[in-house]
Parts: sequence; C-alpha cells; structure tokens
Amino acid sequence: MECSGQVTPQLMLAVGTAVIGSLQFGYNTGVINAPQKTIESFYNETWTGRHSESISQTTVTALWSLSVAIFSVGGMFGSFSVGLFVNRFGRRNSMLMANVLAVIAAVLMGFSKLAASFEMLIIGRFIVGLYSGLSTGFVTIYVEEISPTTLRGALGTLHQLGVVIGILMAQILGIESLLGNASLWPLLLGFTLLPAVLQCALLPFCPESPRYLLINQNEESKARSILVKLRGTDEVSEDMQEMKEESQQMMREKTVTIPELFRSPNYRQPIFVAVMLQLSQQLSGINAVIYYSTGIFERAGVSQPVYATIGTGVVNTVFTVVSLFVVERAGRRPLHLVGLMGMAVSAVFLTAALALLDHFHWMSFVSIAAIFSFVAFFEIGPGPIPWFIVAELFSQGPRPAAIAVAGFSNWSANFLVGMCFQYVELLCGPYVFVIFTVLLLGFFVFTYFKVPETKGRSFDEIAAGFRQSGGQGADRYSAPEEFNTLRGDDPDL
Ligand SMILES: *[C@@H]1O[C@H](CO)[C@@H](O)[C@H](O)[C@H]1NC(C)=O
Repeated sequence: MECSGQVTPQLMLAVGTAVIGSLQFGYNTGVINAPQKTIESFYNETWTGRHSESISQTTVTALWSLSVAIFSVGGMFGSFSVGLFVNRFGRRNSMLMANVLAVIAAVLMGFSKLAASFEMLIIGRFIVGLYSGLSTGFVTIYVEEISPTTLRGALGTLHQLGVVIGILMAQILGIESLLGNASLWPLLLGFTLLPAVLQCALLPFCPESPRYLLINQNEESKARSILVKLRGTDEVSEDMQEMKEESQQMMREKTVTIPELFRSPNYRQPIFVAVMLQLSQQLSGINAVIYYSTGIFERAGVSQPVYATIGTGVVNTVFTVVSLFVVERAGRRPLHLVGLMGMAVSAVFLTAALALLDHFHWMSFVSIAAIFSFVAFFEIGPGPIPWFIVAELFSQGPRPAAIAVAGFSNWSANFLVGMCFQYVELLCGPYVFVIFTVLLLGFFVFTYFKVPETKGRSFDEIAAGFRQSGGQGADRYSAPEEFNTLRGDDPDL
C-alpha cells in the first residue's frame, strides 16, 4: 500500500517531461505582454516599407489584438482534436508529435522580423495556440494516468504550476535588457524552440501510459512491466485491478456525444453550470491582465511597467501554490465565491485608481496593488475551480464530451477578451474594468444560486440535487423541445 504511492525517478522523469508542455502553454500566453510596443513598431516599420506611409493607430490595434487573440483560436481547434490523437497514437507519442507544431511556430515567429512579415508572426501565434490546446489535453491525461492514485491530485496540479511558471519566465525574459528589445524580440518569441527540443529529447525515455496500453491496446504484460518501473515495486496488482475495473465501467457506461449532452434533461443543467463556470473564469478579465498588463501599468503612470508585470507573474505563481493546498481541503463553492468577489472588489479599486490618477500620482501604486490582488483572487477561485467542477459534475460516460464543450467555451471567451480588450479600453478609458466588475458580480450571483457543492459528493448525489432544485425546471425545459419538433414537422406553424 505504502509502496504504490512512491515518487520514483521514472515517475519524476515522466511527469517532469510532460509538464514542459504546460510550461510552453504558459510561456506563449505571457510572452506578448512586455514587448507589445517594440513589436508594434516593427509592424509600423514593415507597413511603412510596403505602403510608403506609416500605419494608422486603428490598424496597429487591429493587428496586435489579432496577434494576441489568434492564439486562442488555435487553442480551441487544438483542444477539440485531443481525442483524435491520444487514442490512436498513444499519450506519449501524441506529445512527441505535437512538438512539430511548436517548432514550426517558433521558426515562423523567430524569422518574422528577418522576413519583414507580421503575417508570419500571426500564423506562428495560431500554430503555437494549436500546440497549446493539444498539449494541455495530452499533459493532463498522461500525468493523471501514470500517477498512483494517492498522488494523482498533487501531481495533476503540476500542470497548473507549469503554466504560471511559463508565464513568469516569459515576463522575465521580456525585460528590455534581456530579450524584450527591438533587436532581440525574435529570440523571445523563438525561444519556444528550446523546450520543444528538450521535450523531444526526453520523451523517448518516458513510458507510454499503462492505462492506454491496457485499455486501448489490450497489452496487459507491457502495461504491467511499465507499472513496475513507474512504481518501483513488483506489487502492482492493485493498480492493474483498478484499471481493469475502470475499463469495465467504461464499457457499461456508454460514451455520451456532445449533441446528446444538450438534449438529455439529465445533463442539460450540469452542462449549463459547467459552461457558465468556464465563462466566469475567462470573462473575469484575467487575460486582459496577462496579455496587456504592461500597457495598463504604463497608462496608470507606473514608471517601470515591465517590472510591475513581472510582479503579477510572481503573485500569480505564489497564489497558485497557495491554492494547491487550499483547493484539496476547502469546498469548491466558497472558494469560487470568494475569488469572484475578491476580483470584483480589486477591479473597483483599479478603476478608482485609474480615474483619480490625474489628481493623486500615488494612485499608480494603488493600481499595482489592485492588479496584484485581482490576480491573487483569480488563482484562489476562478482559476482552478471551473476545471475541478467539470470533472466532478460528470461521470465517465459524459465526461469527455463535457470537457470538450467546457474547453470550447473557455477558449472562445479567452479569444473575445484578447481581441476586444484594447478596443473597449479605447472606448471606456479608465472605466474599462467596470465591465469586468459587473460580469464578476453576475457570475457571483449565478454561482451562489445555481452551482452545487461537488467536493466529496458522488455523481448520483449531485444529480439528485439538480433534479430537486429544478424539479419543475425539467418539465419546463422539455416542453419547448417537443414544441420545436412539432413545429419542425408542420410548416404552417
Ligand atoms: C509609425 O512610425 C512613424 C515613424 O517613426 C511615427 O511617426 C508614427 O507615429 C508611428 N505610428 C504609430 C501608429 O505608432
């Protein structure tokens, strides 16, 4: 029993290699923040070179917003394609193959300046987004499947930690004296090549997921010998038994497709909750900060905006670690509620600081403090909780479809914020965070009334809770559906 929960060198190598993918995702999320101005003037120069007139402010804003946000479009396609790869090629080989995308993206972005082509940068951002969507899926599946049950939660959180450390790394390398300057920014974007090469070099030494070998490939002896190496003991019958039971359970419980998820009254309410929680994560405005904080700090009168941005990365990392300890103990609902309210209050302070800047110059410090606490509260609730709850709301059968829908909502909202934030900021000036405040309060109310506690409850209990709270709701929901089919049959209606 004690042996099966051991962290062996084999396990450490495999998990460590996998989370290089998480690091890549974080790096490319954070990398476009600090060098925004520098790369914008590259866009300007390139434009001037081609059209012999300098670029308009609206075109710069459009091109830059696109460069930032197209990452999420790639992410959306990637996250939808995870299933195509993992079951056909295996978990490890999927991770290996995805690095082709990272290398192509690194080359496109790294040489965009030399080729005087911002299109290459934008396409590179799309491809690295594709990589990130895929690799988020691969890493979480792989790590979960190779970890012993007792360590599954702890090792699973390393993905989240890898992401925030990647963001922080990008923010630090983005300092002007390092890579965030007019001559070296191509290296900053091309840097993504190094983790890709490192992961390709290490993956051949990592085992395939034993669960994949047993359940998908029916290779019992191979699965056993990998488990023996991963666990560092011959006593792996318990793990083998668990996987076999899971496989039987999967056969009993039919896989639910995405349309079925929306049609069945049993799933309609849980999937609505899951989608709303994902929206609460992205529409909280977190990525307005992660993508654009340097510009926000600059307009708030901060003299060294890039260092304040690095500060947000440090706060982000520290509170991710804090939340790793809290999430396992506390209920999901209270954490999400506290996080949303804390973010809303921080956004109010930020708005006040930006609005009063002309009267009190020390307001720039208030804006820094407000953004730090905004990020801290995010990591306490809206960061981790939506993913926890999706996994806990759905059993084996509907879970893959539910996670795909949740991922789609998440990336779409991420795109919306990345694309629109600069425009809305132009329109609203210092009051731009009022919008996020209103959204955050809305999601607070939704969570308070509609989101059940999932921690430590079985799927049946949760489902019963939904039926109770929406007893009449179920009838109300099914009626219009019949009405629709009737109407479809009868052209006169
Ligand atoms: C583009 O560059 C020119 C020349 O350096 C400059 O005058 C102009 O303000 C720049 N345009 C923008 C939108 O930054």
